[in-house]
Amino acid sequence: MTLFRLLALPAAGEASLWLPEQASTVAASVDEAWWLVYWVSAVFFAIIVVAQVYFMWAYRRRAGWTEQKTAHHNFPLELTWSIIPSLIIVVMFVKGFLGFLDMRMPPADTYDITVVARKWSWSFIYPNGVVHPELHVPVDRNVKLVMSSDDVIHSLFVPVFRVKQDIVPGRYNYLWFNATKPGTYDLECTEYCGTNHSEMRTKTVVHEPGGMERWLEDRIEDIMKMPPIELGTLLYNQRGCSQCHMVDGKGGTVGPKFEQTFGNRHQFTDGSQAVGDENYIRESVMNPQAQVRTGFPPTMPTYKGLFREAEIRGLIAFIKSQNPKFKAEAEREYAKPAGETEAGDASPDSDLPDGGANGAASADEN
Ligand code: CUA
Repeated sequence: MTLFRLLALPAAGEASLWLPEQASTVAASVDEAWWLVYWVSAVFFAIIVVAQVYFMWAYRRRAGWTEQKTAHHNFPLELTWSIIPSLIIVVMFVKGFLGFLDMRMPPADTYDITVVARKWSWSFIYPNGVVHPELHVPVDRNVKLVMSSDDVIHSLFVPVFRVKQDIVPGRYNYLWFNATKPGTYDLECTEYCGTNHSEMRTKTVVHEPGGMERWLEDRIEDIMKMPPIELGTLLYNQRGCSQCHMVDGKGGTVGPKFEQTFGNRHQFTDGSQAVGDENYIRESVMNPQAQVRTGFPPTMPTYKGLFREAEIRGLIAFIKSQNPKFKAEAEREYAKPAGETEAGDASPDSDLPDGGANGAASADEN
């Protein structure tokens, strides 16, 4: 883009020095409000500065001139400079407020995506359970983001959509938009949230019709093709496990370290004991309050319905491999892609609740 193009007023909706391109249904109205305020400010700035310079020159001190008496009041003039600016401000308010109402009230038929913000990454959780660090949306569809924070206040901003919303811990915040142009755009956190605030930048991808469905299917296929330990590592980092469970000296300390989970005998708060095996891990993910280790608070949320069978297998592989005594065994045992279990079941809809219930039932027998 040449300097001239940058400085020139943009064609409607295109990127310029002043504003990024418009890629949502509300963007044009936000920009109109912005341009209204801009031009009112620019015109009055010019009028005031020109008048000021002219008066300074016209009424400068000169030899032989004496100061004249000036008027204290001019009622018509005072009315004019009160009423006209008030009307202009009301116009600005109405313009902004109408756009604000539109942006604050999601339509009824939305495609909902769950967003979790944390120091310092984003998780976007799609209706089919895919979790991804980028925001992917279909074009020409009302999208609603249901957003929560794991720690401090973050703020999600997609400049080309002209939408921004703070994400306050302890409640859900909503944001909706309708993307009008397929493409890849920026998404960033605009609330200073600590050391790596500036790393909370990611992409928003607006898909052509049909592209979103393909993308979601491809992500499930990726999961099925990943080596289980690698998949477990990814889930550990993306799904919030790391906030409470320490691995290699990094991560939270609320829950047990994963080094000690597989293969060790654990004492539970109800007085029972069990050795950490596959079923124990599965039960701890699906129904964490069933067996709470002594010395740890019963605060882990259930992940029932949130993981595919292959993903649970990945977590088990990952946790097993964290215990140095079982690392080699885990690597041998879980060499095959996550989707290929011994039973050869690669179907993504061998889904959760049933599997979870079975797992829980067998773990209860401990
Ligand atoms: Cu999150 Cu800044």
